[in-house]
Amino acid sequence: MSLLFLFVFLLSSVSPSSSQQQPRNISSFSSVDSPWLPNQNRILLSTNSVFAAGFRPKPSSPNLYTFSVWYHISKTTIFWSANENSPVNRNDSLVITNTGQLRLVNSSSGVNLWPGTVSGTSNSTQLRLHDDGNLVYGSIWQSFEHPTDTILPNQIMQNSTILVSKNGNYRFRNSKELVYASYNDSYWKTDNAFQRLGEDGRVTKENGDSVVTSDVGDQNLRRLTLDDDGNLRIYSFDTNHSNWTIVWQAVQEFCTIHGVCGPNAICVDEQTQNASTCVCPSGFKPNTSQVNSCERKIPLTDLHNTKFLRLDYVNFSGGSNQTDLVVKNFSICESSCFSNPHCLGFGFKFDGKGYCVLQLHRLLFGFWSPGKEMAMFLRVDKSETDQPNFNGMTSLLETTCPVRISLPLPPEDSNTTTRNIVIVCTLFAAELISGALFFWAF
Ligand SMILES: *[C@@H]1O[C@H](CO)[C@@H](O)[C@H](O)[C@H]1NC(C)=O
Ligand SMILES: *[C@@H]1O[C@H](CO)[C@@H](O)[C@H](O)[C@H]1NC(C)=O
Ligand SMILES: *[C@@H]1O[C@H](CO)[C@@H](O)[C@H](O)[C@H]1NC(C)=O
Ligand SMILES: *[C@@H]1O[C@H](CO)[C@@H](O)[C@H](O)[C@H]1NC(C)=O
Ligand SMILES: *[C@@H]1O[C@H](CO)[C@@H](O)[C@H](O)[C@H]1NC(C)=O
Ligand SMILES: *[C@@H]1O[C@H](CO)[C@@H](O)[C@H](O)[C@H]1NC(C)=O
Ligand SMILES: *[C@@H]1O[C@H](CO)[C@@H](O)[C@H](O)[C@H]1NC(C)=O
Ligand SMILES: *[C@@H]1O[C@H](CO)[C@@H](O)[C@H](O)[C@H]1NC(C)=O
Ligand SMILES: *[C@@H]1O[C@H](CO)[C@@H](O)[C@H](O)[C@H]1NC(C)=O
Ligand SMILES: *[C@@H]1O[C@H](CO)[C@@H](O)[C@H](O)[C@H]1NC(C)=O
Ligand SMILES: *[C@@H]1O[C@H](CO)[C@@H](O)[C@H](O)[C@H]1NC(C)=O
Ligand SMILES: *[C@@H]1O[C@H](CO)[C@@H](O)[C@H](O)[C@H]1NC(C)=O
Repeated sequence: MSLLFLFVFLLSSVSPSSSQQQPRNISSFSSVDSPWLPNQNRILLSTNSVFAAGFRPKPSSPNLYTFSVWYHISKTTIFWSANENSPVNRNDSLVITNTGQLRLVNSSSGVNLWPGTVSGTSNSTQLRLHDDGNLVYGSIWQSFEHPTDTILPNQIMQNSTILVSKNGNYRFRNSKELVYASYNDSYWKTDNAFQRLGEDGRVTKENGDSVVTSDVGDQNLRRLTLDDDGNLRIYSFDTNHSNWTIVWQAVQEFCTIHGVCGPNAICVDEQTQNASTCVCPSGFKPNTSQVNSCERKIPLTDLHNTKFLRLDYVNFSGGSNQTDLVVKNFSICESSCFSNPHCLGFGFKFDGKGYCVLQLHRLLFGFWSPGKEMAMFLRVDKSETDQPNFNGMTSLLETTCPVRISLPLPPEDSNTTTRNIVIVCTLFAAELISGALFFWAF
């Protein structure tokens, strides 16, 4: 009896509060609605109900909030935030002041976290969410001019636009190149800057060329996002399954993205989309104090007492810390490295064109790729007994290409896809014949 009473009591006390949980939809935010607090559970909807804006708790710390815009149809797809890196707590608020200034204030420091100083003509200026996902304050400020990690259809990309991945590790700089922030190093570049993503899946570039998605022509909801893994992707919303599908991506070989592995390690692509393994080259062991990186087993102390280990199909892309040479033959490349006290190894191609790149000071962004058709000669102490662990030409070939190591499939029909698994495996076969010959000759 008392249980039943308790039950009825609970029900009656729970139901009003759960109806309060239902978000209150607003079509505009103006000074009469001010202040807007994170726990008010209010959302600003676009007229077509496709987009929504409001406070969102950080997934990592639910007591901190960002003021964000997302796709109403898939709440997890946040594509713009006013304060991604400086979330506010539940006492903070979005306000429109008497003078019409839009402010997202940190109550403890008083700092305005809204991007840019935004002052309307009066306190009747409104914040609205347009049907294309553009968050607009009066006629003076729009989120499309302050992109974070995503570009939406019809949002103009300037040659000064910079997208930053949510984790802050990567940038898409000048609508043109992908950069690893810690080293300011570019690992992917398009000749002509991107300008606009069309609803039909065509990205126009500044010279009029275009990049097309695998579903070009379909009218889908789309977005161009710089993901936390450093790849730039275009997604289409699949209404049948209510999820986002990748229809284009900039980098096909995940391991060529800088920063996937740490210093000295060699990245090897796995079969699944964006997975990889970091392997230590011969003469190195995992560095226990830094994940995915390696350290020497025997430190290089006497540079005259060193030798080189050949690692097939391995490349290090240390950016400014490498020297590109054109040399007559292998011995010249080898001795250039040997005589340079900073040289830790060199990359060489056996195609007779004299490609020779010295790695100076550090070994960064190493990766294994048959597409590179080169070998890395790693400088180790003469007493090192490890045998080379990347023997691409012959022995690894049969075992790795179809089985363990293979490259991700690019989206179909993508005109910018430069390399795909077919080419790579064909290359493998071609290498087996010509490459093996070269190495035998050598
Ligand atoms: C808010 O809008 C959404 C989508 O249009 C709708 O499902 C929901 O019922 C609305 N909520 C209220 C309280 O009107
Ligand atoms: C808010 O201000 C306090 C005190 O100055 C500071 O510690 C905190 O990091 C600030 N938070 C944000 C989100 O800026
Ligand atoms: C919010 O304000 C209340 C009352 O001033 C205070 O007790 C509480 O600690 C504040 N919460 C946060 C997260 O700052
Ligand atoms: C907006 O401005 C008018 C005139 O300046 C003022 O009377 C009114 O109180 C203001 N409204 C708010 C909400 O501050
Ligand atoms: C950006 O575009 C403007 C005008 O289109 C041009 O004057 C400027 O040189 C460009 N800047 C870069 C870095 O390409
Ligand atoms: C990164 O490199 C670019 C071009 O090389 C340069 O313009 C920019 O100033 C650099 N940024 C930093 C923070 O060093
Ligand atoms: C969704 O389903 C329709 C009808 O079954 C089909 O024609 C369409 O191709 C599907 N779209 C996608 C993206 O799978
Ligand atoms: C979308 O959902 C369908 C059905 O649940 C699933 O088969 C498909 O793999 C999903 N696509 C993505 C990209 O997650
Ligand atoms: C890439 O991997 C990360 C985690 O490793 C995952 O969160 C993310 O969704 C993946 N992205 C894609 C496009 O597969
Ligand atoms: C191992 O990693 C730590 C942390 O990054 C670094 O300080 C140290 O120099 C590394 N050790 C070697 C031998 O490279
Ligand atoms: C190469 O890297 C070292 C640190 O590893 C740095 O001190 C040096 O300035 C770099 N050289 C160039 C040319 O960037
Ligand atoms: C790919 O590019 C070629 C010209 O380079 C063009 O003829 C073809 O139509 C493009 N394919 C698609 C799907 O746009």
